[in-house]
Amino acid sequence: MTDVTPIPAVPPPDPGAIPEFDLRRDGQAAVDWAASYLERVREYPVLAQVRPGYLAPMLPARMPDKAETFEQVLADLDRVVLPGITHWQHPRFFSYFAVTSSEPGILAELLTATLNQVAFIWRASPVSTELEAVTMSWLADLLGLGSEWHGHIEDTASTSTLTALVAARHATGKSGVVFSEHAHSSVEKDTRILGMSARKMPADRQFRMQLSPVEDELRRGDVAAVVATVGTTSAASIDPVPALAGLCREYDAWLHVDAAYAGSAWACPELRGSQAGVELADSLVINPHKWLLVPSDCSALFTRRPDVLREAFTIVPEYVRTTDAASNLSDYGPAFGRRFRSLKLWAVMRCFGREGIQEFIRRGVRLAGEFARWVEADEDWELVYENLSLVCFRRRGSDEQNLTIERIVNESGVIFITHTELAGRMVLRLAVGNLHTTRDDVACGWEALRQAALASSGQGEN
Ligand SMILES: Cc1ncc(COP(=O)(O)O)c(C=O)c1O
Repeated sequence: MTDVTPIPAVPPPDPGAIPEFDLRRDGQAAVDWAASYLERVREYPVLAQVRPGYLAPMLPARMPDKAETFEQVLADLDRVVLPGITHWQHPRFFSYFAVTSSEPGILAELLTATLNQVAFIWRASPVSTELEAVTMSWLADLLGLGSEWHGHIEDTASTSTLTALVAARHATGKSGVVFSEHAHSSVEKDTRILGMSARKMPADRQFRMQLSPVEDELRRGDVAAVVATVGTTSAASIDPVPALAGLCREYDAWLHVDAAYAGSAWACPELRGSQAGVELADSLVINPHKWLLVPSDCSALFTRRPDVLREAFTIVPEYVRTTDAASNLSDYGPAFGRRFRSLKLWAVMRCFGREGIQEFIRRGVRLAGEFARWVEADEDWELVYENLSLVCFRRRGSDEQNLTIERIVNESGVIFITHTELAGRMVLRLAVGNLHTTRDDVACGWEALRQAALASSGQGEN
């Protein structure tokens, strides 16, 4: 006799335990909450004013046994969630790269969850598979990239670069990854995840990767990929892509361009100077969730060698094998199940139009430029570097004083900025990227910084 596992006793049915929901009623309340949040977002301190560990004491230790209503969840947004929100939607959020989740994108996210597509193969979601191709070709056209690129959407630039590095290793059979000391940390992390070998290169005085150390590395013969950054995170500086492309060709290395932030600027023809050489790259990442009004997450990975991605990533388990004559999104990257991210990109592109997007980008560049001129005109401050909508600057004085200024303005809640290190010195960064940022917002930020500087040197009123 074989052993039979006894079937555990299942409690009798309880038809009342699974609640029913009124999506119309709850949905209207949720959209009302969203609209009123966006109307009053300016009233909040930009940076969350809570301390680590604030949340757990406000919530029960265990989930409820009996179902609660969505209304109760909504009520807790104000009590529990908002205090812990750093307001990325605030027009005076000037940190990192400032972003906007625009209204068409917000609503498209609701519809994405409603449709709940899991687009690993064409049949699992014909529309998600095909709309991703269409929106990527619209995006390539918007950015003036030309039609030879194949595009697909990943969640983040971290994943897009990981995907590109897998392709680079597959194409070259090598394992070195060369990138600048100013490349985003995700490049080093991706290299580590893949067990590849990171080679961090020094930058010049304009924060661009230096060419001769790159060539020395390439001469060793084991470099799979060079990652060039167009729009570094610290300074928005631009690596010398045309020269790097020449070196990559000579030494058989894959060129990946990280334009996660700055690539969006190419929507404006007059801002395409930094695109030089990108047409020679093997892959390119641009994040519509950074400077293109799309809610997080949405990262566009373009490649001129989609065949390599397909070879590197395609595995077809029997249960998804079909005779559909179509390409499958899961063949181009690490994820099997994939969200319907193109819906929000499509909604944003349609609802802003090319002209709306261009004006949005230009406005950010103009406002940052105006801020840079104010800094330049004040002898107590130093303009360190500016490009596009990012300004790096510092108070003439010590690193400690600059960090104190940052702390004071962030604690005030009026603005939120960050610092970085450039050429061995602490500098402050102001990034404009919110759709609703006005000249008054930037002026208010400048005034807050000047007041904080006075307070930091003990001359101001505390
Ligand atoms: C140039 C650059 N690359 C990559 C990243 C990482 O982006 P993600 O959060 O989409 O992974 C950032 C983040 O700011 C960035 O500035």
